[in-house]
Amino acid sequence: MPHSTLFEQAQEFLQLYYSESNLAGLEKRLDQVQVEILQTGTYRLTEKELSYGAKLAWRNSNRCMGRLFWKTLKVRDRRTLRSAEEVFLDALAHLKSATQGGKIRSTLSVYATADEGDSGFRILNKQLVRFAGYTLPNGEILGDPDAVAFTSYCMSLGWEGKNTAFDLLPLVIQRQGEPASWFALPEEKVLRVSLSHPDYTWFKELGLQWYAVPVISDMRLEIGGISFPCAPFNGWYMLTEIAARNLGDVQRYNLLPVLAKKLNLDTRQVKTLWKDKALQVLQEAVLHSFQSQGVTLVDHHTASEQFLEFCKQEESKGRVVQADWAWIVPPTASSTLGVFHQEWDNQILSPNFHYQSAPWKEEERAKEPTSTVKKCPFSAN
Ligand code: ARG
Repeated sequence: MPHSTLFEQAQEFLQLYYSESNLAGLEKRLDQVQVEILQTGTYRLTEKELSYGAKLAWRNSNRCMGRLFWKTLKVRDRRTLRSAEEVFLDALAHLKSATQGGKIRSTLSVYATADEGDSGFRILNKQLVRFAGYTLPNGEILGDPDAVAFTSYCMSLGWEGKNTAFDLLPLVIQRQGEPASWFALPEEKVLRVSLSHPDYTWFKELGLQWYAVPVISDMRLEIGGISFPCAPFNGWYMLTEIAARNLGDVQRYNLLPVLAKKLNLDTRQVKTLWKDKALQVLQEAVLHSFQSQGVTLVDHHTASEQFLEFCKQEESKGRVVQADWAWIVPPTASSTLGVFHQEWDNQILSPNFHYQSAPWKEEERAKEPTSTVKKCPFSAN
């Protein structure tokens, strides 16, 4: 594919924005952008362009099932913030406004890029809120196994956890070219849901919980050829993300064996379907707990219908939906859902969100002694 220039990418986005929003003055704006690129090498999106671009990035997220609501995204333009501390305080404000006491609002905040006259930022966490994971002396893992490496990185910066299964990780924010700083997340700023089951009273004694708002903070937002490496965004949870994957996966909290024991299921043979039964109970508990505590959460049946409605709406606008089947189809009850029986193209459109490398992982790798440095020059191996 030929590499398009920044101006061509800007043009493609601005054409889309102006035509979908029925705006006049495209030619004038394009002239401006062209001059700006010639003079400075880049250009600055207006607040409105940024806001529409972020919505389009959501609409174009092939792996996201919640896209019916793309137009309702609340975009917070915070490109003028200049210190890690300011970004931290603003991330707390994002959490508050996105949480709304449980009535979750899809929200995205954009922080400075390196181009904008100053240093850009990175949030090193995968999400603003996540639980720590620790390897215990006996080799077992306490907390979220997926967070073990990041947790030890946080500890290397001087952070200390409480050693529970649900410790809030600190936020780690890095201004380009400077060392990363960490900030403890105040407990009261994070809405969590403690888990109980409508029929099994023993369930709540397991002491399980999950946080209310998933705010992805490590992806790069791209709009009209401009990259925003620090643009945390959230929707609300779908049931299976927490119950099936985060709590159920063997490589995550691995709770199915624990529940099976409580339920007196025969776990000696897989064909007793003990995993299916335990998973069902876990799903009931997560759904019940979010509902009874007034926190937005969508079940996979409703989410499937909503996604098909999104597809319908897109088609009526003459657009072809791009989607990644393996990510759209939920992991439980799949064939009972409409989305299971569909197929989509899976091309990556722009604007969009992209994965990017994690600076802390490179830093950790650099700390590892390389073979040439570590090895004794006189020994054979
Ligand atoms: N699957 C991720 C998690 O369990 C969250 C991804 C975003 N999910 C969402 N519903 N917006 O934490």
